[in-house]
Amino acid sequence: MATSNALSSDGTIAGHLVLSTWHFGRTANRAAWEALARAEADALDAVEAGCRAVEADPEVTSVGYGGLPDAAGEVTLDAVIMESPARCGGVACLRGFPHPISVARRVMEKTPHVLLVAAGAETFALQEGFTPRDLLTPAARKRWEEYRRDHQRGQSPEHAASNHDPAAEGHDTVGVLVRLADGRLAGGCSTSGLAFKLPGRVGDSPIVGHGLYVDPDVGAAVGTGHGELISRVCGTFLIVEEIRRGTAPLEAIGKALERIARSCRPLPRRQAAFLAVTPDGRWAAGSLRPGFQAALRTDAIDTLLPPQTVLLGDE
Ligand code: GLY
Repeated sequence: MATSNALSSDGTIAGHLVLSTWHFGRTANRAAWEALARAEADALDAVEAGCRAVEADPEVTSVGYGGLPDAAGEVTLDAVIMESPARCGGVACLRGFPHPISVARRVMEKTPHVLLVAAGAETFALQEGFTPRDLLTPAARKRWEEYRRDHQRGQSPEHAASNHDPAAEGHDTVGVLVRLADGRLAGGCSTSGLAFKLPGRVGDSPIVGHGLYVDPDVGAAVGTGHGELISRVCGTFLIVEEIRRGTAPLEAIGKALERIARSCRPLPRRQAAFLAVTPDGRWAAGSLRPGFQAALRTDAIDTLLPPQTVLLGDE
């Protein structure tokens, strides 16, 4: 396994820690940190605030408002939020609401269910007072029209989609992990999913144990990249269960990446990446291929880092 020597994750961080995916993770971290500064705010508030900040940014084409649509031109959003197996909620294929992370939190807090999808999730969001909005920006529509043109020129849907793939460009799901100074954990993630996906496709992000898993006694992990790779190995559950067995977070991520490489035989350019953190403040970031970045925020640090482990080359 190739490793790069970024900031060491060997030491524990004593205060609050926020860890988010990709360059827009810094936007998420800033919003999460501000939430933590507010009286009474807890780890879930910070996670929600972090995801919402990226969901609201029209420049981010893989999350929330401005996300690229499915093959039919419809923007469908997935998100999940979690602080324990008893406290988690998600939405998938949510249309017309810009903040799926907040709807996911409401699923967790107000229903006995874990996951609501499509029309049912939208009815629930309306009942809960969320405001609908057209999510397809002019820029996203233009990208979709280019995709359709490529597709109509005879490229396979897979090839046409991969020409316009945000994950291949170096960003995807926003994942946010928060570890409070007292050891409490929470996590969330939010995405518009694979660009130009088949209508109805759901990736890893809204599914507990795939895109996100949090066990308050053990650790939290969040995934980003091609959801099919992460879902096929229950990636974040695998990482947290490795940590439960005594594996360090970085090695636990490495094992999940190796499992993906061995079991899924990823196509060229297919990316998968993970972040993990433990209640005692150990953290790690790793990816299948180069290009992934993790945003770290602590009392003393506000930075963007390459992953500490990258399994494969840039092919
Ligand atoms: N990781 C986001 C997705 O594949 O939908």
